[in-house]
This record gives sequence, structure tokens and C-alpha cells, in this order.
Amino acid sequence: MQTAQTPETGKTGRLEIRDARKAFGSVRAVDGVSFTAEAGRITGLVGPNGAGKTTLFNAIAGEASLDSGTVTLDGAQIGGLGPHEVFSSGLTRTFQIPRPFARMTVLENLLVVPERQAGERFWNNWIGRGRVSRQEAELREKAHDVIAFCNLSAVAMQPAGSISGGQQKLVELARALMADPGIVLLDEPGAGVNPALLDTIIERIVELNRRGMTFLIIEHNMDLITSLCDSLVVMAAGQKIAEGKPREVIARDDVVEAYLGGAAA
Ligand SMILES: Nc1ncnc2c1ncn2[C@@H]1O[C@H](COP(=O)(O)OP(=O)(O)O)[C@@H](O)[C@H]1O
Ligand SMILES: [Mg+2]
Repeated sequence: MQTAQTPETGKTGRLEIRDARKAFGSVRAVDGVSFTAEAGRITGLVGPNGAGKTTLFNAIAGEASLDSGTVTLDGAQIGGLGPHEVFSSGLTRTFQIPRPFARMTVLENLLVVPERQAGERFWNNWIGRGRVSRQEAELREKAHDVIAFCNLSAVAMQPAGSISGGQQKLVELARALMADPGIVLLDEPGAGVNPALLDTIIERIVELNRRGMTFLIIEHNMDLITSLCDSLVVMAAGQKIAEGKPREVIARDDVVEAYLGGAAA
């Protein structure tokens, strides 16, 4: 799929969600949500547990269908596509609970990420290596580059199931980078991560964003949100209740109320 660049910035990964709806029986998990994650920006998605954030992520990533609404990536419809097609169009997501192949090494976990067939080549563009080759040696070289970038070199040859939860979060990010995505969706990258590793995760996201990568991040850690995000969307009970600059949004009474009223994590 050919992706269009955002004219003003030349950046890709602009994700637009319009009137998204998804119900599970009588539960309106996502109830008419619209917002845009602008290309080249870091957008935060917050809200108490049960707000519908993960359901929306699953729908955007093609793992579940919306009941109605549209999702476009750089102007192209991705709503209704399956996970492989969404992935091919340049959107990668990580999971709230990391899902590494536990017995495979960290390096092997990166080597098995499928290669995208078309679109922008974020990592390869950056290292200036031109077209991606399926050659094993080049793939390994790329994986080692990504592992070094994510501060994982010391554990590259260890089974992914044997490293810490925080390091597994970094493996999730590293696996996402192997796909050269235009936009990465991160589901609670800071959850259960010790402060030192959290700093590494934040710093790596900042660096990737500086190089042009777009992010949409679900997170409860307000330090992470306010230090990373350009804009913030707040959901509660399936609906968007606030949107704007992070520090202004989290100070709003109705946002504080939604967090205190919900089962905040
Ligand atoms: N597969 C499912 N089947 C039934 N209900 C679900 C399912 N997934 C989520 N829900 C419900 O949808 C609502 C939103 O959940 P979720 O998207 O996980 O919220 P969040 O990620 O914001 O904590 C909750 O009430 C949850 O119980
Ligand atoms: Mg969730």
C-alpha cells in the first residue's frame, strides 16, 4: 500500500479515528471516539481501567473489528483490514503484557518479525542502507543494530522469557522497529518497569520521534505521559472526555474525577 506523506512535515504515520464504536453485548467499550494522532508527534491515550483504550488499539491494529467508524493511516482506509494488512500498511503495536517467544533468544525474536512488503522503511532509511534485502546476513545486521539501539546487546543471546519484564518491554519496542513502521502503538510501555529501564524506554522513544517516528501511547504513568506526549486524549467509559496539551488536560476537574471515579491502575 502506498502511503501519503503529511504535506506540511513530510512525515508519515498520521492516524485518524472517526466515530469509532465497539460493543461487547451491552457494554459500549468504545462509544463514538474521534481523534487524530498527527504525523511525527507523540499522542497519549489515557483513562481509567475499562475506559476502552485496549479495545480501540485492538481495532486499529486489525485484531478486532469495529462495529462502525473509520480508521485511516496517512489518508488510506485501514479500518476493517486484518492484522497483517494493517502491519503491512506501516502500523505496528506492542502489547500491554509483553508476548515474546519465551524460549527463543532476544535476537531470534527480532529475526522472526515479518518483513513489510511496501511503504516507508524507517530504520533502513535512517541507516541509509536503501532497499531491504531478505538476505539473512543483512537481517541479522539490522537486528543487531536495533538491539544495540534498545540497549539490549547484553541479553541478545538470552531466552526472551528469562529477562526482566522491563527488558521484555524493550524487546517489544525492538520487534516493532524491525518492521520499519510509520507509527507505533504502545500499550502501557511503562507498566511494571523499574525506574532505570523506564528512563531508557522514554529516552529511546524520544530519539525515535526526533528521527520522525509517530507514536500513539496508552499509559497510566503521568510522568511518562507529560514528559513524552505532544497531545493527550482522555477516554472514560468508552468516550473521549478531553483532548489537548498534557499538563492542561490532566489538571481538568472532569479528568481528575474520571480517574478517581474509575478503578485507576
Ligand atoms: N473481549 C471482550 N469481551 C467482553 N468485554 C470486553 C472485552 N474486551 C474488553 N471488554 C470490556 O470493554 C470495556 C473496555 O475494556 P478495555 O478496552 O480493556 O479498557 P482499557 O484498556 O481502557 O482498560 C471493559 O468494560 C471490558 O470489560
Ligand atoms: Mg488496557
